Formats: sequence, C-alpha cells, structure tokens
Amino acid sequence: MTEHFKTLDELDLSNKVVLLRADLNVPVADGKVTDATRIERLVPTIREIVKHDAKVVLLSHFGRPKGKVDPEFSLEQVCSAVADVTGHPVGFVATDWTDVGAAKQAIAEAPAGSVLVLENTRFHAGEEANDPELAKRMASLGDVYVNDAFSAAHRAHASTEGLAHLLPAAAGLAMEGELDALEKGLGKPKKPVVAIVGGAKVSSKIDLLENLVTKVDGLVIGGGMANTFLFAQGYGVGKSLCEKDLADTARRIMDKADKANCAIILPVDAVVSWHFKAKSPTRLYGVDAIDPDGMILDIGPQSIERINGAIDDAHTVIWNGPVGAFEMEPFDAGTVAIAKHVAKRTHDGHLVSVAGGGDTVSALAHAGVKDALTYVSTAGGAFLEWMEGKPLPGVEALKK
Ligand code: 3PG
Ligand code: MG
Repeated sequence: MTEHFKTLDELDLSNKVVLLRADLNVPVADGKVTDATRIERLVPTIREIVKHDAKVVLLSHFGRPKGKVDPEFSLEQVCSAVADVTGHPVGFVATDWTDVGAAKQAIAEAPAGSVLVLENTRFHAGEEANDPELAKRMASLGDVYVNDAFSAAHRAHASTEGLAHLLPAAAGLAMEGELDALEKGLGKPKKPVVAIVGGAKVSSKIDLLENLVTKVDGLVIGGGMANTFLFAQGYGVGKSLCEKDLADTARRIMDKADKANCAIILPVDAVVSWHFKAKSPTRLYGVDAIDPDGMILDIGPQSIERINGAIDDAHTVIWNGPVGAFEMEPFDAGTVAIAKHVAKRTHDGHLVSVAGGGDTVSALAHAGVKDALTYVSTAGGAFLEWMEGKPLPGVEALKK
C-alpha cells in the first residue's frame, strides 16, 4: 500500500524546517496526559527528522475549540509530555493562526534539531473549513510537510489536507505503520478474516457493517448493537439497549451477509442484570429466554466459546468495539476473554490481529493485552471510516 505514498525517506530533510502534522489530541486530566500512546508513536519520525539537522515543527489540533482561541484547549499543556516521551526539549509558540509572525521568528531562531509545538490549529476557524489562506500561512512556516496523524486523516482540514498540496509532502513513519497494518487487516488480508464489531449502537455503525459483510468471512456482533440484531430475529431482549426502529436495517445487513457468504455470529447466551451498575447481581440466560425485566450487559460463556472458535478458524481478526459493558465489572468478562484469546492466537503465530477505536483500545489495555496484538491503531473515527471503506482526505492528499 505504501508504494502509493511518498514516504519520509523520499523527502530531502537536511537542514529543513519540517511541518509535522501530529495528533496531539490526547486525553488530559488535571493538567496531565493520561495516555501518551499517540505521542509515543511520533518518536521514530521525530528522531529521523532531527538526525538530518532539520527542525521539527509540530502542528496539531486539541479538542474542539470551535475556531476560537480558548486557553482550555491550549496545546501548551501537552508539551511537557512530548518532551518526556521524545526525550527532547520542546519549545512552544502561541499563535491565533491569523498572525504567524511570532511563529516564523521562533522557528528561524531555533537551532537545527529543535522540536517546537505550535498552538492548536483549531484556534482558527479556517482549520476545519480547510481555508486555502490558512493553509498558505501554515505552508509559509516550513519547507516540507510530513503527516503522522492517521487518527485525524478523516478530517479534510487545512493542516491535514490543504497543506499537503502546498509543500513537498510525505507520510511519516507512524502513518506508514498504520496504513501497512490496516492493509494487512482488511485491504489484502490473509483469509479467513473475522471482524469483531461491538459497541452500543447499530445506528453509528450501519455503514461499517454494510461494508464488512462484503469483505470478511465471519462477522461477530456484540455489545448493545447485538440486541438490535437479536430483536430483529424475533427474540425478546427485555429492557436491554435496543434500537427497535433499526430492525429492518439489521435484517437487510443479515441478508446481505448471507448473499456474500459472510457468517454472522450473534450471542447465543447473555449475562443479564436488573441494574446498570457495577457489581449488580447477574444471571445467565440463553438469548431465547431473556428475562423481560432484565438488561443484557455482556455475552455469556457459550457465546465466548463460539467466538473463540471463529477466531481459531481465522487467519486475520479485525476488531472495533467491546462486546459488553466492559467499563463495569463483571460485564467486562466477555470482552476480556476474547481479547486474551486474540492475543494468544497472535502470540502463537496463528493470527494477524488489528484493532482500533478509543473504547477498543481501553478494553485491550484493561485486559492487559494492548501490546499483544499485531497492531493497535491510535485512531477512533478515522479507523472506523477506513473500515467503512471510505477514502480518508488526509491519506488521499499524500498519494503520489
Ligand atoms: C480523535 O481523537 O479521534 C482525532 O484526534 C480527531 O478528533 P476530532 O474527532 O475532534 O476530529
Ligand atoms: Mg473522534
């Protein structure tokens, strides 16, 4: 796949000012970065650039400040984490992106090999509007453009798309890693391929399911969205989360899967509780006998067996979304069991496993196997859109 893209080694970096689009949109609590994975993934690219006596100028959005300068969303608060993770001093330059004079001066004065973070690109409304004037102002700050922000590549913004057309541009090493892994997961995977899709709602994943049934050999559906499919097949789901108005959609997806020879694997048993609360009492039911007053909050042991069996038959697993209410014990059990099984099959050399999406990554971390899969994407929305088969503007702009 990456033969279609310009890569870092194809750019002349020596003594250049490199505008590196990163995704520094990391979780912060009480002024501290709580998960630095996205920053860690930037390290190889930053090292490579610095090695060429070039200057690294990091561009990123942070949160959704809606086109206005808002201290709550200042990127200054992630600079110390960038310095810690990269082991490199990091300078910060404030700008409202209307006037980039100070940024220009700071970049000019920084010695070769410096790393600078510029203020949140979304402090200017032109970022999300992909305003060509803003993209030009950004381009005026550097010599070359490198994009390592796969997780923001579904946005056609000035710093992710417009800018790529104005300077010599390439995918950074993190972007290249994401694209290679995703290609292995769904582009040209080793068959059979099983997709595991979970999460609360069918409504947010209709396009995803429609695309997957034409591409994969088995589709495991779990989480709240499985209830809608069970309901569509005539099962009672009690007080469980269920989008009853999407029953027709669910049936259409099942028909499409049938025609495409994709096996849909739904839960056959469920962990039911009467309160949406951690450690509330539970009972196991077959899906044909759900208590009308109860809520399905996790898949049961027979479902786990069934899913693990499908994983055993697969050469590739692609995963988005937990199969139960994993953030509450004991409803994490199904997701944890499957995560451990995917990790073991991967470790034993039987499986290529690719996972992505915010909840999925937290669930894998919770199961203690985040580093045990073939690849874990740092992307949420971008991973989903990519799985839906949609072109990502930030990736398209880097194509040769
Ligand atoms: C993300 O966290 O998913 C990316 O940084 C994109 O952020 P956005 O959804 O605000 O565009
Ligand atoms: Mg998002």
